[in-house]
Amino acid sequence: MYTFIELQKIIEKEIDGLELSSPPQGLFEPMQYILGLGGKRLRPILVLLAANLYKDDLSKVCLPAIGIEIFHNFTLLHDDVMDNAPIRRRKATVHEKWNSNVAILSGDAMSIKAYQFIGSCEDRHLRDVLSVFNQTALEVCEGQQFDMEFESRSNVKVEEYLNMIRLKTAVLLGGSLKMGAIMGDSSTKDADLLYYFGVNLGMAFQLQDDLLDVFGDESVFGKKIGGDILSNKKTYLLINALEKVPPELKKDLKYWLEVKDFNPEEKIKAVKTIYEQLSVRELSQKKIDDYFALCLEYLDKVNVTAEKKKELYSLVKGLINRSV
Ligand code: IPE
Ligand code: IPE
Ligand code: MG
Ligand code: MG
Ligand code: MG
Repeated sequence: MYTFIELQKIIEKEIDGLELSSPPQGLFEPMQYILGLGGKRLRPILVLLAANLYKDDLSKVCLPAIGIEIFHNFTLLHDDVMDNAPIRRRKATVHEKWNSNVAILSGDAMSIKAYQFIGSCEDRHLRDVLSVFNQTALEVCEGQQFDMEFESRSNVKVEEYLNMIRLKTAVLLGGSLKMGAIMGDSSTKDADLLYYFGVNLGMAFQLQDDLLDVFGDESVFGKKIGGDILSNKKTYLLINALEKVPPELKKDLKYWLEVKDFNPEEKIKAVKTIYEQLSVRELSQKKIDDYFALCLEYLDKVNVTAEKKKELYSLVKGLINRSV
């Protein structure tokens, strides 16, 4: 069994070794830049940990796992354009450092590279792996579109939000685990249990991301705090605030959601204060705890020894208290 740290090292080494210096520079340099900024490497680690539940030799799983990380990084390039985000992994985003056209085209090329890498899995797994990946990738787009559409709506329901984060974030964690399980020759039942483990873990993960976007520490989180507030993202915090807001605060919240010309720091501070007054942070934390508990129920049911699942359990434990 590999440990989380060992797998992280393997992934870093593979990513370091990627040949991304050919011309045109404007296409490949941003790829090297974003992939070189690090990040948690959560998704490829999930691929490898899932495969490692069933087999010791991960040599054929490593490149497809890198493919998933390349895909994730592609979504970040486009997401940062869509969210107008200036900072990612403590550095300037690609569209800030270059421009939006570069972020779009480099992102497109990364999505193709992702397919190249994922397609290098063993022939006998190719159809099943691609089927999971294709469905997941399309769902991520669906989630991203809902996320954008919700910005200009004020009647988004909690259920709609949960479905949106399931699509934009959670299914990629679930899909990573399922692809890893397939490449490890697991049973179909285990592959599905790992998928639902990942989806519920991903729900907790995105709820946490939304919480950290308001209450996190910028230098640790590595992204600009308050971005979701500035773009009226319909997060669990905002949806609950809109539902709970008493008449005397309603005008205030509505003002900040509708005003077109504002000082960004002032809006962030004002909305954050409203969140604190309404205790929506606590509500969100409760929901996060529920999803973590639910994901563990699925992991418990996966039909391998507890010893084999140790690294996945400790990965969950590590994520519960994350600040990055
Ligand atoms: C960021 O993902 C996008 C979300 C789904 C919230 P991560 O938080 O996994 O980003 P990195 O790869 O570690 O930077
Ligand atoms: C990320 O949602 C979802 C995808 C990148 C597909 P966010 O927009 O919240 O992610 P961050 O906060 O920018 O990493
Ligand atoms: Mg974003
Ligand atoms: Mg986004
Ligand atoms: Mg976010």
